[in-house]
Amino acid sequence: MVSAGLRIPEVAAGARILAFGDYRPAKVVTNDDLAKSIDTDDAWIRSRVGIAERRIAADDEGIVELGVHAGGKALANSGLAPSDIDLVILATCSAESPMPSHAAAVAHRLGIDAPGAFDLNAACAGFCYALGTASAAVRAGSARNVLVIGSEKMSQWLDWTDRTTCIIFADGAGAAVVTGSDEPGIGPVVWGSDGEGFDKIIIPDRHSFIRQEGQAVFRWATTAIAPVALEACERAGVAPQDLAAIVPHQANLRIIEAIARKVKAVNAVVADDIVHSGNTSGASIPLAMSRMIERGDVPSGAPALLVGFGAGLSYAAQVIQIP
Ligand code: COA
Repeated sequence: MVSAGLRIPEVAAGARILAFGDYRPAKVVTNDDLAKSIDTDDAWIRSRVGIAERRIAADDEGIVELGVHAGGKALANSGLAPSDIDLVILATCSAESPMPSHAAAVAHRLGIDAPGAFDLNAACAGFCYALGTASAAVRAGSARNVLVIGSEKMSQWLDWTDRTTCIIFADGAGAAVVTGSDEPGIGPVVWGSDGEGFDKIIIPDRHSFIRQEGQAVFRWATTAIAPVALEACERAGVAPQDLAAIVPHQANLRIIEAIARKVKAVNAVVADDIVHSGNTSGASIPLAMSRMIERGDVPSGAPALLVGFGAGLSYAAQVIQIP
């Protein structure tokens, strides 16, 4: 066979996260607010789901607008310039339109010139999928620095008379800047999906709202996800007791606590951003991580476990070094 003589770039040994950023819409909707129009109450929602209040985006705040705020903050926190970014990946499952990609629009608004840009849909696991993809791109030499964003406007896909969904989902965006490094700061991603449950959480078509089989999803999340989380620790070479933080997708506080219990991360702070932010799907992990860092809840440099899971049924987990 004739050799094509292709060259491949020099590669970084590892990738790490330089900084996180977040954006929460201004409008706060409490459980009491919801109880004015549907048959529910604050005590039921707190005890079954763990949510006290959530943020809902304004009519003129779409996926791009939310992503610009979070991405811009992550970029500012990273100390990099827009010209340093050469790939933008935006995870979303609640987009208002299928094209163009929201990533390209966010990049343009942030002054990032001619980056690779694409949207990624792995529902509530989207941020962990995007982070795994960003890490691989940096390590393969396809990008120097990547802006990873999870941006969701779940409110536009909710039936506000359906008390089994509208109490759960919410809006927001979170982001991270990924760069190359000698020391790995993003562990191997463990990702997968269980297609048998593809219709357990679903928006069947453009005229429909989010539907879910709540109990089936609850059972799946509390049994199938902890082994994925443990495998991510194992593959990163980090013992659960050495984790400083565990940041499961903020789906339901009872699911979060069940996963944390099974992982036995006895010294870890467990993210509970859901209490005030609701379930923001692919945005929930970077939103929670940003808040933990800003509050000083977690030490810089320590390992944190990220675990995304949701519609698909898709899941992904990796251990990161907290920036
Ligand atoms: N307020 C008050 N009562 C409610 C209610 C609400 N918002 N929603 C449902 N109920 C009622 C039901 O109608 C039912 O009443 P009934 O016993 O008279 O028939 C009762 O509460 C129990 O319903 P059930 O569905 O068994 O509740 P649950 O404990 O399973 O909680 C969920 C429902 C949706 C909160 C729970 O199943 C869940 O969180 N599942 C996971 C969903 C999830 O995380 N999805 C996102 C994944 S990314």
